[in-house]
Amino acid sequence: MPLLTGQVVLITGASSGIGEATARLLAQNGARVVLTARRQKRLETLARELDPTGVNVLAIAGDITLDTDRHRWVNAALAKFGRIDALVNNAGYGTRGPVEIVPVDAMRQNFETNVFSLLALTQLVLPQMRERRAGCIVNIGSVAGRIARPLSSIYDATKHALEAFTDGLRGELKPFGVHVTLIRPGYIVTEFVEVANAASDPYLENAGPYAPFMSGFLLGYQKLRRVAGHPHAIARLVERALTSDNPSPRYNGPLHAKFFLFLKWILPARPLEWITRLKP
Ligand SMILES: NC(=O)c1ccc[n+]([C@@H]2O[C@H](COP(=O)([O-])OP(=O)(O)OC[C@H]3O[C@@H](n4cnc5c(N)ncnc54)[C@H](OP(=O)(O)O)[C@@H]3O)[C@@H](O)[C@H]2O)c1
Repeated sequence: MPLLTGQVVLITGASSGIGEATARLLAQNGARVVLTARRQKRLETLARELDPTGVNVLAIAGDITLDTDRHRWVNAALAKFGRIDALVNNAGYGTRGPVEIVPVDAMRQNFETNVFSLLALTQLVLPQMRERRAGCIVNIGSVAGRIARPLSSIYDATKHALEAFTDGLRGELKPFGVHVTLIRPGYIVTEFVEVANAASDPYLENAGPYAPFMSGFLLGYQKLRRVAGHPHAIARLVERALTSDNPSPRYNGPLHAKFFLFLKWILPARPLEWITRLKP
């Protein structure tokens, strides 16, 4: 079983939520972590906390949707640590709203962040992993990557895309000794909802006939808070994947995520449609 000690792990979206919790757990267990996200101050504070000497941590801000920033992250990580053993593709956000109303540019931007930038960053770390015949790509998917919900279909489609990408890449890299896995969190208390609301507010203010359903959707989120998990639970799943000789194709958590995925597995489409139906 591979130890985390000394492993170099590049984590995207390390400035909050699941990415931050993952950085903490991996660093506590001896990994050398590369922290990336746009909010530089947060990354620097976290880096100082994890390793005041700065020897085992690198905080490097940037926007994942920019090609220059992605190159900067990978080059800086290779320059400091000489290799990247694992990439945790975690940065992402959700766009909410009816397909009829959300501007296509907002949809593109969500796919750009959650899918295309993730693919582009993965391309940058792969050559050295393939040559060394070692490494692990951990994608942070979602239960929403299996169960699409009305008024969330854009974000949910980005996570569905990640399911296919993970499976395909997993098979492609197996002969080269590089692992690929997908973590599917359920509802986790982070800044996610706040960010999704801020990203979607401008066009939801004019949701027209969809407005009452949108309120119902947001109310559903509030109710789910009762069963919501802590980002640490997802960090533990990342740790499990990185310390496994042969990581599973999927890790699901917490318990309510496993329950919903079980329903998806056993139920025909119509009862599932009833569960996710629009409610005013
Ligand atoms: N929370 C949940 O219930 C839940 C459930 C299933 C899946 N997920 C997935 O888990 C992942 C982490 O989300 P979270 O819940 O931890 O939310 P969060 O607290 O909002 O964290 C999102 C992270 O992504 C970074 N990010 C967003 N856009 C970026 C960009 N353009 N460039 C660089 N970094 C960017 C943010 O950093 P900056 O703003 O500093 O750039 C932040 O660190 C996401 O992929 C999300 O889809 C979350």
